[in-house]
Amino acid sequence: MAKKILLTGSNGLLGQKLVELVSQNSDYELIATSRGENRLSNKLGYTYHSLDITDKADVELVMDKFKPEFVINSAAMTNVDQCETQKDECWQLNVRAVEYIAEACQKHKSFLLHVSTDFIFDGEDGPYDEEAIPKPISYYGTSKLAAERILMKSKIDWAIARTVLVYGIAEDMSRTNIVLWVKKSLEDKKTIQVVNDQWRTPTLAEDLALGCFLIIQKEATGIYNISGSDFLSPYQMAIKTAEYFNLDKQYIVESDSKKFTQPAKRPPKTGFIIDKAIKNLGYKPHTFNEGIAVLAKQVAVL
Ligand SMILES: NC(=O)c1ccc[n+]([C@@H]2O[C@H](COP(=O)([O-])OP(=O)(O)OC[C@H]3O[C@@H](n4cnc5c(N)ncnc54)[C@H](OP(=O)(O)O)[C@@H]3O)[C@@H](O)[C@H]2O)c1
Repeated sequence: MAKKILLTGSNGLLGQKLVELVSQNSDYELIATSRGENRLSNKLGYTYHSLDITDKADVELVMDKFKPEFVINSAAMTNVDQCETQKDECWQLNVRAVEYIAEACQKHKSFLLHVSTDFIFDGEDGPYDEEAIPKPISYYGTSKLAAERILMKSKIDWAIARTVLVYGIAEDMSRTNIVLWVKKSLEDKKTIQVVNDQWRTPTLAEDLALGCFLIIQKEATGIYNISGSDFLSPYQMAIKTAEYFNLDKQYIVESDSKKFTQPAKRPPKTGFIIDKAIKNLGYKPHTFNEGIAVLAKQVAVL
């Protein structure tokens, strides 16, 4: 019999890619959940149920109804500056809600896969492996680390997929990402300042979804770094994006983070070493250029 996976945040970028991937696999029955209506146009191959994960009773109700073998929590407050200025809402969604989900997973003996971030690190000595010591410098990072610790202290079977700067395209997206932002700005002939003093291993949303699904399929417990493997600055990512889409690079101005005043601090040098995921999961991400090509094909369709 097909095993049930309950996904939270299915309207999000990662959520949509997971719906696409898991709904096509007959070994699993997918229950996609997000707050409010289902915003995906493809409604076939899975069940949708609205779920606000900050509502404890709602989490219990939905978990009691479906009793899934697996839960993937992709819902979160992901806007780093918003987390800094709306700390209570951030804590409620990124920490308390994870407590509710973990408790419900304990009741139903469900395996919980939670998605975390490179922002749990201070960015002084990246790239990081899974054993590196976290030291967040933003409220978002603090909240995501607190959520990780809930899983680690729990008695459930758990895995944490940590990722970095996710890019991709999906339907009705609530926020943009580096590739889409650069592409749109240059198409609109708008000058953009892009920093050259931060370092990341940007992650194609499809790769992250596949990494998460591999964790579920292998029931791999513990922490996994699931990111791209190219170590790039945002400025380099912008140049590569312009080159791929044949857009005018003169609108990209090389800048540094001192020139920006943002509510939340950004860690300068993160990025992940992904050897564990390659070895244990058979994970193999696209290069950044290949990733842009995947996205470009979808831009034509969406
Ligand atoms: N994006 C990145 O660069 C990045 C980097 C590192 C780690 N991560 C982590 O990766 C995971 C997925 O991120 P993403 O990029 O897919 O984020 P996203 O596109 O912002 O998706 C998050 C989804 O969560 C939903 N949501 C918000 N509040 C909710 C609630 N109370 N109940 C249920 N659903 C709720 C949002 O709904 P609405 O669409 O209705 O707002 C949204 O669809 C997150 O855990 C994030 O922390 C992301």
